[in-house]
Amino acid sequence: MNNISVIGSGTMGNGIAHVFAQHGYQVALIDISEEALKKALATISKNLDRQVAKEKITEADKTATLANITTFTEVAQGVKYADLVIEAATENFEIKKQIFQTMDAHSPAKAILATNTSSISITKIAAETKRPAQVIGMHFMNPVPVMKLVEVIRGYATSDETTQAVMEASAKLQKSPVEVNDYPGFVANRILMPMINEAIYTLFEGVAGVEEIDTVMKLGMAHPMGPLQLADFIGLDVCLSIMKVLHEGFGNPKYAPCPLLVNMVTAGYKGVKTGEGFYHYT
Ligand code: CAA
Repeated sequence: MNNISVIGSGTMGNGIAHVFAQHGYQVALIDISEEALKKALATISKNLDRQVAKEKITEADKTATLANITTFTEVAQGVKYADLVIEAATENFEIKKQIFQTMDAHSPAKAILATNTSSISITKIAAETKRPAQVIGMHFMNPVPVMKLVEVIRGYATSDETTQAVMEASAKLQKSPVEVNDYPGFVANRILMPMINEAIYTLFEGVAGVEEIDTVMKLGMAHPMGPLQLADFIGLDVCLSIMKVLHEGFGNPKYAPCPLLVNMVTAGYKGVKTGEGFYHYT
């Protein structure tokens, strides 16, 4: 594997492009907007600067990493020579369906098609392509350059060969891949999101305030961020949509999203990205 195409240059997409390029892969970074691509390259450069400042990499590594990234505004062009395509576009099935159909039509027959989805069924996405055995989930965690996990999700039809290739590629990024099966929330979000939702219920029911809840989990459980701060960081809209996937997928009332989370998202309080969530961001 040498040529990687990444579709979507937002927070996750630029992080994924960053780590592949840093490990010597040729990366085609694809987004519909030139503006978004420019912003993504600036973010990657800034995040590489952090690594240079911490003496984790050299200036020469930074230059080499940036030189490994080429940008495209057309999926059909950007996936033409790919060995592995990773889709990291908006978390919406209709958008992903269209992208996967285009990826399938224009990437080489041997290419593996992966998605960074945090909650949409891999099996359902794979069914939109003519190569379901080569479709897989590759779920990176934010911030991608820092977090060690890649949750590798096998759809119902994903082959052993595809899984092995993606496990090996993840290990080459010096990440720890973990293989899981395709059920709602996979493993990461099946466990993380009910914890965040419970923290929101704890606030909603007046058991404690925002900072108190986060402090309990940070100092008591050694979590790097409290659950409410983490929810702001992930995006409250993303948290709500994942809770809905768990609730609908399992039909169990224990996954019902907290009414406070629903209200906050409805009001446009989505966390860091909108400047307002459980905390205020300037
Ligand atoms: N790129 C490169 N390096 C970065 C970075 C980035 N985007 N962001 C942070 N860093 C580096 C910093 O340079 C620093 O490096 P050193 O350890 O060498 O000093 C290190 O990461 C820690 O950063 P900071 O000192 O700035 O801040 P911090 O100590 O508060 O850590 C954090 C920040 C890593 C984000 C930490 O708070 C953390 O781990 N938070 C939890 C993150 C988490 O749970 N992520 C998963 C979210 S769920 C998800 O992504 C999936 C989903 O489906 C919802």
